[in-house]
Amino acid sequence: MKAIALDGPAGAGKSTMAKLLAKELGYIYVDTGALYRAIAYYALTRSADMHDEKAVTAMLAGTQIELRFVDREQRVFLNGVDVSGKIRTEAVSMAASAVSALPAVRAFLLQLQRDIAAKNDVVMDGRDIGTVVLPNADVKIFLTASVQERARRRYEELIAKGMTADYDEVLADMEKRDFDDSNRAVAPLKPAEDSVTVDTTGLDMEQSIERLKVVINGRV
Ligand code: DC
Repeated sequence: MKAIALDGPAGAGKSTMAKLLAKELGYIYVDTGALYRAIAYYALTRSADMHDEKAVTAMLAGTQIELRFVDREQRVFLNGVDVSGKIRTEAVSMAASAVSALPAVRAFLLQLQRDIAAKNDVVMDGRDIGTVVLPNADVKIFLTASVQERARRRYEELIAKGMTADYDEVLADMEKRDFDDSNRAVAPLKPAEDSVTVDTTGLDMEQSIERLKVVINGRV
């Protein structure tokens, strides 16, 4: 099986790039953030304290999280219910960052991610795919952009979806998430030693995808 690991901070364009690459290569696109989001969503609905590892661990006992692929499109199921449409809010983003710092949560999701890559050719996007989940991935890319540009992209995405958004708030949330994701003790966001960093600041989607293709070329 072939694997491309695509890691980087929120809003760097990972999901857009990963989707396009997966389509071109005939691979499955795996968005691992959706797993953390599903757990965060569950914790929010149960009013669990996201920072309390004991409470979250207790909640996870007997909880089933599953990724299913319908027409190659990923859906995330929480205890058998498709929650894909419910996990894209700002509240879930912040909660996902919090629960993802808990070692018990990361351990809970590790094998699930590895199993998918064992059975499918994948472009897998996340924070620790190249460093922890798939250390033997064929290609490892660290996709990044300036925090201002990433906040602007996220802001425009929210507005395009008809949601209300405040740029300064989006920027502050993004900075907090960057800090928390990069400074947690377990599997922090950082480039794998054998990864190639691609900075998309000032690049549009086509230019970014071209850069990625140059990196991938001949390696899968
Ligand atoms: O990629 P995303 O914004 O959907 O991810 C939501 C949060 O989940 C992110 O702030 C950090 C966490 N995450 C993680 O720790 N490891 C991953 N492989 C993917 C996401």
